[in-house]
Amino acid sequence: MMELTNLLYEVEGGVATVTVNRPDKLNALNHQTLQELGQVFDAVRDDDGVRVLLVTGSGEKAFVAGADISELLAVAGNSDGAAALAGFGQSIFRKLDELGKPSIAMVNGFALGGGCELALACTLRTASDTAVLGLPEVSLGIIPGYGGSQRLARIAGPGVAREWILTGDMIPATEAHRVGVVNRMFVQEELKEGTMKMINSVLKKGPLALRFGIEAVLRGWDMSQAEGEAMETEYFGRAAVTDDMKEGMAAFLEKRKPAFTGK
Ligand code: COA
Repeated sequence: MMELTNLLYEVEGGVATVTVNRPDKLNALNHQTLQELGQVFDAVRDDDGVRVLLVTGSGEKAFVAGADISELLAVAGNSDGAAALAGFGQSIFRKLDELGKPSIAMVNGFALGGGCELALACTLRTASDTAVLGLPEVSLGIIPGYGGSQRLARIAGPGVAREWILTGDMIPATEAHRVGVVNRMFVQEELKEGTMKMINSVLKKGPLALRFGIEAVLRGWDMSQAEGEAMETEYFGRAAVTDDMKEGMAAFLEKRKPAFTGK
C-alpha cells in the first residue's frame, strides 16, 4: 500500500475518501502533498472496487487553504521554475478528469487558491454554509496556476471567473452555491450526511453510464454544439450495448431495483 504522510485514505462501501491532513498549515498543498494526491488518484482509477472518490480536508477550519506559499516563494524570479510548478499541479488535478468515476469535493472550510482549484477539478462539490472559497492569487501578485482559471470559467462562466480571479475576494459558500460552483450546500453539522446522500444516489447508478456522462460533459467543453452532439451520440451508442442498459430497462419494467455490473 502507498505510504502517505500528508493524506488520510480509506475505502469503505465503494467510496474512497482522501483527506488532506496538514491542519496546522490549513491543509496547504506542498509538493509532497500533491505527489501523494497523484498516487491516490492513480489508485482510485485502478481500483474497480472504488466507485466514487470523496475529497476533503482535515479539521474544522479548512478544506485546503491553497498551494503552500513558502514553495511559491521559492520560484519567485524563476519563470521556468514557476511554469514547472504550475505544470506539475495541473498534471495532478488532471488525473481527476481521467479517473473514469465521479469525484466529489466536500468543502468543509477555506478552499482558497490551489484548494479552490482542487475542488473545481472534482466532478461535483458540496460545501458547508460557513465555508469560504476564492482565488486570492492576485493578492500575491500571481494568478491561478493549477487549472483554476480554465475550470472556473467552464463551470460558472467567464463572468464569474473574472470576478473571482480579479478581486481575489473571499467568496462565502452561499454565493458560490448561488453561482453554481457549489452544487449542494448544507449546515456544517449536516455536511457529511448530505454529501453521503448525494454520493449514495450516484452509487446506485450504472458505473459505465456515470463514466460516459462525465466524459461527455468534459469533452464537450472544448467542442461546438454540433461536434458535441456527435460525440454524445457516440457515447449513447456505447451505452446501448452494455449489460447495464439491459439491466436498467429490465429492472424498470419489473418494478425492482437494478443490479448494475459495470459491463
Ligand atoms: N501556504 C502555507 N501556509 C499556509 C497557507 C498557505 N496557503 N495558508 C495558511 N497557512 C498556514 C499559516 O502560515 C499558519 O502557519 P503558522 O501557524 O506556522 O504561522 C497556519 O497555516 C494557520 O494560518 P493563519 O493564517 O494563522 O490562520 P488565520 O485564521 O489567521 O487565516 C486564512 C486563515 C485562510 C485567511 C489565511 O491563512 C490565508 O490567507 N492563507 C493564505 C490563503 C491564500 O492566499 N492561498 C492562496 C495561495 S496561492
